[in-house]
Amino acid sequence: MGELSRTGISLDQDLLAGFDRLIARRGYKNRSEALRDLIREALLAESVDANQPVVGTLTLVYDHHVPNLAEKLTDAQHHAGGMVLAATHVHLDHHYCLEVIIMKGRSREIQEMADRMLALRGVELGKLVLTNSGSALKNAKH
Ligand code: NI
Repeated sequence: MGELSRTGISLDQDLLAGFDRLIARRGYKNRSEALRDLIREALLAESVDANQPVVGTLTLVYDHHVPNLAEKLTDAQHHAGGMVLAATHVHLDHHYCLEVIIMKGRSREIQEMADRMLALRGVELGKLVLTNSGSALKNAKH
């Protein structure tokens, strides 16, 4: 973390009351930490829109009895040009496997890779979460 700067903001009372209720529900101890997180979220969204380097975790649930599906998922990861950092596989039950794939790269290529895997027949649920470290966001150049 860099040096702290203090700033004051003017807010409509209703908006501030709504914000205070929101941060209380989310368990924040004070407004500053809640604001910092909102700003980080906004900077991350900007990085994603600008196709900057980000980290993504793709969670997939699939039916491993669908022919060739496991091979297709493995192939996609092998051909991802080093974008895949790690993958974890859990045999959920007789039919279903859960896989979490951690990737690093430009937001667009991660999104495309996730879309390709999610579109495969037999992949029944899935979600991509894009994130990054706070310092990467702070130093992001656009
Ligand atoms: Ni499995």
